[in-house]
Amino acid sequence: MTDNAILREEILFLKEERDAIILAHNYQVADVQDIADLVGDSLELARAAASSDYSTIVFCGVDFMAETAAILSPGKTVLLPAQDACCPMAEMVTTGELAVLKERYPEAAVVAYVNTTAEVKAMSDICCTSANAVKVVESLAESRVIFVPDQNLARYVARYTKKEILPWEGYCIVHDRFTPDDVSRQKTLHPYAEVLVHPECRPEVIDCADHVFSTSGIIRHICGSRGEEYIIGTEIGILHQIVKLCPEKRCYPLSSRAICVNMKKTTPEKVLAALHRMEPLVTVPNEIAIPARQAIERMLKIP
Ligand code: 13P
Ligand code: SF4
Repeated sequence: MTDNAILREEILFLKEERDAIILAHNYQVADVQDIADLVGDSLELARAAASSDYSTIVFCGVDFMAETAAILSPGKTVLLPAQDACCPMAEMVTTGELAVLKERYPEAAVVAYVNTTAEVKAMSDICCTSANAVKVVESLAESRVIFVPDQNLARYVARYTKKEILPWEGYCIVHDRFTPDDVSRQKTLHPYAEVLVHPECRPEVIDCADHVFSTSGIIRHICGSRGEEYIIGTEIGILHQIVKLCPEKRCYPLSSRAICVNMKKTTPEKVLAALHRMEPLVTVPNEIAIPARQAIERMLKIP
């Protein structure tokens, strides 16, 4: 057996022993995606964490995703194999800053993208992900909405609602770097390819796209449509799932530099070590978890 195969066997054995499920985001490295029980976008992974019967969840992603799993699963053990895997965008809005905004617009609802800290979620009325942001905003009674922290997602939502959206000025350091020139360059190379981008891209990049989807939305669209070629405007880890699920399609990254270093911190070795030691543990204190859970569960109730 190769070293990789031995590592995989050890992980599978220990996973059974620990009664664990391995959840991995679409941006994880290929070897991690290949040992996961479920690979998905933030919404799918949050739903899986909420409905899982396993006593342990190994979360291969970044900290806010594991925190969301812990908030939704009181009593379960949630492990984040790469303890330092964070989302810089989630740190771009603090509770103090949100408190000031809430005071300035007391009649506005607060929508927190899941890419936020547990503390910010706890101060929000409802959460959303890239897959359901428009539906979440439309579900609210309030006509004015404070949207944190992603200004690009907020502006994308604003295209599809009559509500007034007050965007916070955060952004994803990976998606915000894409430019219309990147699209032109790839379109010159692949003139028949459809352009699919994530809603964390800037408005001028969204304007160049044929479709805008969450990460799993991009994969579903490619696998379910007749097109043969696609230009993909999101983090390049997604290409592994696409090749696995629909190998006959030809997909080109909008930029091969679109790499989220935090998503790449998890390795099979760290997953094995986490299962051995049952750490790094992710916990959220009750006084934050209870209100944060309300905001996340309110989102999960939206079909
Ligand atoms: P998805 O929910 O679309 O997978 O996006 C998560 C994310 O962090 C995008 O950068
Ligand atoms: Fe955060 Fe961007 Fe990485 Fe997604 S790709 S986890 S939004 S830094």
